[in-house]
Amino acid sequence: MPTEPNPSSVTPGNARPRVLSGIQPTADSFHLGNYLGALRQWVAMQDTHDAFYCVVDLHAITMPHDPALLRRRTRVAAAQLFALGIDPERSTLFVQSHVPEHTELSWVMGCITGFGEASRMTQFKDKSAKEGTSAASIGLFTYPILQAADILLYQADQVPVGEDQRQHLELTRTLAQRFNHRFGETFVTPEAYIPKATAKITDLQEPTAKMSKSSSSPQGILDLLEEPGPLRKKVMRAVTDTGTEIVADEANKPGVTNLLRIYSALTETSIPDLERRYEGQGYGTLKKDLAQSVLDTFTPIRERTEKLLADEAQLDRLLGLGAERARAVARRTMEDVRERVGFLGRA
Ligand code: TRP
Repeated sequence: MPTEPNPSSVTPGNARPRVLSGIQPTADSFHLGNYLGALRQWVAMQDTHDAFYCVVDLHAITMPHDPALLRRRTRVAAAQLFALGIDPERSTLFVQSHVPEHTELSWVMGCITGFGEASRMTQFKDKSAKEGTSAASIGLFTYPILQAADILLYQADQVPVGEDQRQHLELTRTLAQRFNHRFGETFVTPEAYIPKATAKITDLQEPTAKMSKSSSSPQGILDLLEEPGPLRKKVMRAVTDTGTEIVADEANKPGVTNLLRIYSALTETSIPDLERRYEGQGYGTLKKDLAQSVLDTFTPIRERTEKLLADEAQLDRLLGLGAERARAVARRTMEDVRERVGFLGRA
């Protein structure tokens, strides 16, 4: 049995740790929850990590979808990521379906995953329950295995994700170790990187529920590409709590707590500092200031996104370069996997 480590998986002493993350192109815009919970970290991690970021269009077809809309949203997703500050010189930003090794490795990983093990994934249970389990696709069932392939192909050390992805990361780690144990050291076992303080952005209308594309009402969500007027309105109409005091108290004041959390994250001011600043003032003042800081953050991103989308050929070229770089790494891992698994090399 081969046991020597795969050279592509050994991080040289002075190299930066590698990070990989993915986001689905399933909305017309990313929202504040995506931005504060994940995408802002993606941008920051470029300074400290060797970053691979992926628009996961293969994952986006696990639910019924419209082809033209998917193509459009894939470009919109990529444009927003560049507009947010993902730098194509420093990071590798690419579209998942441009790198066929994702599906190839996914098959191999699926063959070492237990049916029962996959059946325990809570995201599948939640998503399939919505349509009735028998109506759910096999693709939705094997979604976490494809996600494991995304991560393992690039030998990622760290994976920034939301709390809801913890179980998928655990499965990825299990599969990496199982493969390594059976076939010899091949994959890095990745760590989940889950930012704590800002990860929990909730619905403006229903502040005990997560801000989410699939479950929030339009009034509860702040979209990155939204116009200033509607954005301001939504902040001003956010549900607050009884009483007048501006303090963070998740159990009794979930609405105000959410606003404080958002404001704190956007302005990089601590919540106690904000509580002091707004002492004796009404909710209206906090909302007005928060609306302004949302606009200050979102407007330049929206403008840059629009500019990038105005030249699709150039955007597609950038994605082509990203795919080439990603593929060079993925191909190396896959060559190793083929050899380890025992597939006959092609003459
Ligand atoms: N499942 C992830 C989510 O819904 C998206 C995703 C797909 C992902 N592949 C990934 C995240 C690889 C991190 C790494 O958020």
